[in-house]
Amino acid sequence: MNLALQIERYLPRQLLELVEDISREANQLGQKAYLVGGVVRDLLLGCSNFDLDLVIEGDAIELAQQVAKIRQIKLIIHSRFGTAKLNCGDFTLDMATARGETYAKPGALPTVTPGTLNNDLSRRDFSINAMAISLMPSNYGELLDPYEGRSDLEHRFIRVLHPKSFSDDATRILRAIRYEQRLGFELELQTAQLLKQDIPMLDTVSGDRIRHELELILKERHPEYVIKRLGELGVLQRINSALKGDGWIAEKFDKARLLSKPIQLSSLYICLLIYPLHERENKHLIRRLNMPTRLAQVLCDTLQLKSQLHLLDKSSIKKSEIYYLLHEYDPLAIQANVMASESSAACSNLKLFLTRLRYVKTSLNGERLKRLGIPAGPELGKILQILHKAKLDGRIKTRAEEEKLALSLKS
Ligand code: CTP
Repeated sequence: MNLALQIERYLPRQLLELVEDISREANQLGQKAYLVGGVVRDLLLGCSNFDLDLVIEGDAIELAQQVAKIRQIKLIIHSRFGTAKLNCGDFTLDMATARGETYAKPGALPTVTPGTLNNDLSRRDFSINAMAISLMPSNYGELLDPYEGRSDLEHRFIRVLHPKSFSDDATRILRAIRYEQRLGFELELQTAQLLKQDIPMLDTVSGDRIRHELELILKERHPEYVIKRLGELGVLQRINSALKGDGWIAEKFDKARLLSKPIQLSSLYICLLIYPLHERENKHLIRRLNMPTRLAQVLCDTLQLKSQLHLLDKSSIKKSEIYYLLHEYDPLAIQANVMASESSAACSNLKLFLTRLRYVKTSLNGERLKRLGIPAGPELGKILQILHKAKLDGRIKTRAEEEKLALSLKS
């Protein structure tokens, strides 16, 4: 099968020209270049994928340097891994020297050795990701499919290449379900058995690697489908026994998508995922996934605020009370509670804080109060807070009113 037409049709011009340059330069250097992985799968499915991965039989770094020189484009090199990243306008293209891998022990990062395209494909996760397209001028566009990935695409199967795949790298358990749900495929029978049997192997994988896969899941269009399925299979529970993938999560993820800014969405999803957890279980998960400090703080804030929500569950509460209950929480944790809370009064108070109250400031500051004759020290701090509360509650509005109130409080 030849996919030259699909390459031309689905790749943007900039990338297409880059691929053609790589093809020509590789040929001149006596090297062989192939498109591999996700882009091949997606070209066969008729979808665009602008994350290009190339495998080079030869020396990816030498080839990338040559292409970067000709096209005058930016290049990042990782000599240790024999890989290079070319920057091409809005796109990047990854090139790697073909390699084989062995796993010293389950879950460890693989030991890498130089190899052929076939070695390189044989170390991959699923047949649908283990196909390549030749970029050699003699057979440009030809599909290379040693593991029958095309047939699996047609039959809509996710299939591992060998029985030790999940135990070598248990992150593939998460990947398998991500692809299954994204593509609407099924796990092939033996793959499904191996996956279930190897769930305990997740214990061999580092927190960073599991978190990375979780982040990829949360970037999917419908992460709740993946989370639900992971819950049904007991995969979530292996990561943390209290995690669930039930209907509540699906409903809240939907709401988050509608209401939040795209840039916050992944963090918000994680807040919702941990919402049903107790603080102790949350701490355990933070340690297990080696969460970065800022995210860990947002998650702790989310649960702490959840335990305080009853204080906001009334419409008669003063605005200054709302402010001082919430001002130390991370805004993302407040946003998560807006999504998760079932109380409409608490929700509108949280929203009022996010949209208005947190921006309310007095016109007077410490310096100005000193000029009014109020000495620096704890009294000044107290007066500033009284002014702020009065402004929040609408008891004073203008600067003159602030000055009048401040002077009346001076001892
Ligand atoms: N891969 C693998 N095992 C992993 C991670 C990746 O075998 N644990 C291989 C797969 O062949 C995959 C390729 O490395 O196609 C690139 O990985 P990644 O960028 O995560 O996947 P893509 O298929 O390119 O992209 P996506 O998942 O977004 O479709």
